[in-house]
Amino acid sequence: MAILLPGGAGYIGSHTAVELLNAEKEIIILDDFSNSKPIILDKIKQITGKDFKFYEMNYLDRQKLEKVFEENKIDAVLNFAGYKAVGESVQKPLEYYTNNISGCLVLLETMKKYEVKKFIFSSSATVYGEPEMIPITEKCKTGGTTNPYGTSKLFIEQILKDTYYSDPTWDICILRYFNPVGAHESGLIGEEPQGIPNNLMPYIVRVAAGILEQLSVYGNDYDTPDGTGVRDYIHVVDLAKGHVAALKKLDQEQKGLYIYNLGTGNGYSVLDMVQAFERATGKKVPYKIAPRRQGDIATCYADPKKAKEELNWVATKTLEDMCKDSWRYIMKK
Ligand code: UD1
Repeated sequence: MAILLPGGAGYIGSHTAVELLNAEKEIIILDDFSNSKPIILDKIKQITGKDFKFYEMNYLDRQKLEKVFEENKIDAVLNFAGYKAVGESVQKPLEYYTNNISGCLVLLETMKKYEVKKFIFSSSATVYGEPEMIPITEKCKTGGTTNPYGTSKLFIEQILKDTYYSDPTWDICILRYFNPVGAHESGLIGEEPQGIPNNLMPYIVRVAAGILEQLSVYGNDYDTPDGTGVRDYIHVVDLAKGHVAALKKLDQEQKGLYIYNLGTGNGYSVLDMVQAFERATGKKVPYKIAPRRQGDIATCYADPKKAKEELNWVATKTLEDMCKDSWRYIMKK
C-alpha cells in the first residue's frame, strides 16, 4: 500500500518524502513542477537510496488522478500541492482558491470514489489569525486570516471537518505548521523561493551570500522583548517527521479528525534570528529597520504539548541546525 504525495517535489513535500522512505514506506509523488524541479526527485533517491513512482501532473486533473488511483493501491494521501506565497495570494486570489481549495476537493472526491479515506492536510498557524493567547494551543479560536493563502487553509479545514462529520469512516489529520525553515543536512534539498523571497530565513541567507544587499526588519515597535516580530521557527526535517508520526497515529488509533500544532514552542525575534545566523555561519547579515509589514502580528508560537502527548513527536533540531542547514543548502547550489 502506497502513500500518495501530491506536491511531493516541493519544499515540505520533498523532505517528507525522504522521511517516509526512511521509515520504509512506499510513496508515489505527483507534481507539475510549478514550484519545484525534476532534479529534486533524483535528490530524494540519492539521499534515501530508494526508488518511488512519479506522475507529472496537476492534481486538479481529475482524469489523470483517477488513473493514479486505478493503477496503484493507495492507503493514505498527504497533500503538499497548495500554493503558499502570501503576497502573491493577495494579487491572485482566484488562482489560489482554485489551486488550493478546488485541488483539495478533487483529491477528496477521488479518494472517496476509490474508498481511500486517510488524509493528512498541511495547514498553517495562520488559521489562528491574531492569536487568542500565547503559546497557541489547538483549542484557540481560528479565523481572521488576512490573505487568500491563509483563508484557503481555513476553508479547507472546515471542508475537512464537514467531510468527517458527514462520514466518520474518514481518518483525517490537520497539521498546523508554524514557520518551517532549514534544509536537509545533506544540502541536497531545501527551499527554493521564486524571485525575491518574502519569508525571513530565505531572505537572511541571500543577504549573507551577497545575493541581496540588506535585510529590512519589518518593525521594531511591537510589544515583544526587542520590538521585532516573534515566531516559532521549526526545522523542516522535524516537520517532515511530524507527518510520519501523524500517519502512524492514523494507522493505529480509531478513526477520527485530529488537529495538531507542529512547532517547537520557542519564540525567536527577527533580531534573534539575525544573530543566531551570524553565530552559526560566521557571516554578516546587514539590516535596516523598516516599517511594519501589513498583516503581520507581534508574536506567534506554539504550545506543542498535544503533538508530544498524542503523536509522541517533538522537534529536536536547534536554531543553530536551522541556520547551518539553510546556509549549507544555498552554498551547495
Ligand atoms: C508567513 C505567513 C504565513 C505562512 C508563513 C510560511 C504572513 C502574514 N504570514 O508567516 O501565513 O504560513 O509565512 O510561509 O505573511 N520579516 C522581516 N523581514 C523580512 C521578512 C520577514 O522582518 O524580509 C519578519 C516578519 O515581519 C515576521 C518574521 O520576520 O515578524 C517572520 O516572517 P515570515 O518568514 O514572512 O513568516 P510569517 O510572516 O510569520
